[in-house]
Amino acid sequence: MALAVGLRQWLSPLSGIDRLYDVRWYESQNAAGPELLPRWDGNCWLYVADEVSQGVTVVDLATLKPVDFIRLEGGVPHHPHITRDQRWVLVTIRYGDWVAAIDTEDDHRVRRIDLPMGPDGTPAGPLHMGLTRDGHYALVTLNGAAHVAVLDAQNPRLLRVVEVGARPRDVGVTPDSRKAYVSLQADSRVAVIDLATWEVRHIVRTTTDYGAGSGSGLGISADGKYVAVANTLDDEVIVIDTGTDRVIHRVGGVPGPVNVDFLGKTYVVATGNRADGSVSFIDAAQGRLLETVPTGRGANIAYYGPDGNVWVSHNGAAYVTVLDFETLEPIAEIPVVLNPHWIYFSPDGKTAYATNWGANSVTVIDVERLERVTHVVVGLNPNGMALKANVRTDAVARRQAQAAEVSPVIARASRLVLPEPRSDAEVLFLQSCTICHDLGRVIRNNAQGDQWLDIVQKMRDNGAPIDDEQARIIAEYLATDQHRSLTVRTQLQVEQPLDPAKGYEEAASRGI
Ligand code: HEC
Repeated sequence: MALAVGLRQWLSPLSGIDRLYDVRWYESQNAAGPELLPRWDGNCWLYVADEVSQGVTVVDLATLKPVDFIRLEGGVPHHPHITRDQRWVLVTIRYGDWVAAIDTEDDHRVRRIDLPMGPDGTPAGPLHMGLTRDGHYALVTLNGAAHVAVLDAQNPRLLRVVEVGARPRDVGVTPDSRKAYVSLQADSRVAVIDLATWEVRHIVRTTTDYGAGSGSGLGISADGKYVAVANTLDDEVIVIDTGTDRVIHRVGGVPGPVNVDFLGKTYVVATGNRADGSVSFIDAAQGRLLETVPTGRGANIAYYGPDGNVWVSHNGAAYVTVLDFETLEPIAEIPVVLNPHWIYFSPDGKTAYATNWGANSVTVIDVERLERVTHVVVGLNPNGMALKANVRTDAVARRQAQAAEVSPVIARASRLVLPEPRSDAEVLFLQSCTICHDLGRVIRNNAQGDQWLDIVQKMRDNGAPIDDEQARIIAEYLATDQHRSLTVRTQLQVEQPLDPAKGYEEAASRGI
């Protein structure tokens, strides 16, 4: 008995991990991470969604080597999430009409979950995801179809779609798995889905017309008591009490908030004010703006780290900012490569991984020393990550032995074969506008004429390396709509076209 107690103390699971740190792996766009396993043996796989290479790189974290590249074509692999049983990695295929379910226990076989088209035949456009804590469902916002898709998270397939409103973005699920809150980018309301009856109610969040859609991030507190939503165009964050489903606070003076995250187990919300390059801290219980802190261009997502600090990623800078949670003062700027997007913490809380969305790597950071350790090369424009912590040792060894074969595949998936340019302006466009994201973001944007000048200017603010004259040439080229007929493929796609019939297993069922 005494020995057992002694051992338990010796292995003290939470030593070094802040008591307010919260893993919340089941949520979309949040301090997502694997379940906390302080006695983790170091073996695990990180699934990194490479948007432009159109695949998922699997990084072995014991050796920091890529051990697989899973091709996911026909859209942009955006956010991967692991199911509670850690068997499936579900990946939203942004702008596409499907979700990929990667079977982590069957050789990374891909199951294709087809989604219904939106009105006028637009692709469903699965964007973000929230998993229920009971392990039953994955709720996926269909940004192109005004619906949320309900997937079976144990045997991935489409169960149903629920109509929520225009351009759904984020999903926050209550910890009791009873309700989901969905933010809508082009609607003045927030949708609340009852996860037993599938009935949908709405809460009015603003009277402003959100037009074609804007920002509108959503976060839920760790205990499920509050939901916060960014009214981006109103420079405001609202707080909803989930007990009454009423808006209890409107906090103004927040400059263009986009992503919204509760920090750990606290009621402090941090917003990424992308256009302003700042992070605002809000006390959600009191409905009070605490402070707005400039951190850098494209301030994007704030995470509460296992060290008790706040970690901020940037779409437009080459560093991660770390702030002291007590004083809200920046204490470190950790250099990465370009546009760090998602940050993930290892199961023991000692290491952070940041995707370099503007490049092709993941930066590995020592949490205690707040220093960059190294970076791992993955495919082009890595965005979200999911982490599997329970990999079997034989599977780890088998994949490690294959690592040498994987790097050349990733290299071929990272070389873009650009179409024969038809003009100098097209050359400039292709060179400048495929650095951080795929062409899809440009082609699918409905902007016309002069509107392109504003967008190109916004991209310069994001870090696009072009001068005034080049910006003018690119904007004029885009105004002609010639770019809409371009297709860009990777060398891997050209040399080894994927036969979807062989590449993906049929969806188990098409659901209701
Ligand atoms: C330094 C990185 C970077 C470069 C280079 C870049 N972009 Fe972007 N782009 C971004 C970011 C960041 C976003 C916003 C991403 C989001 O909202 O998820 C974005 C989004 C977009 C969108 C969608 C806009 C929206 O509001 O949804 C369009 C269109 C676009 N970019 C066009 C371009 C064009 C044209 C170029 C070339 C001039 C370009 N981008 C170059 C970083 C970049």
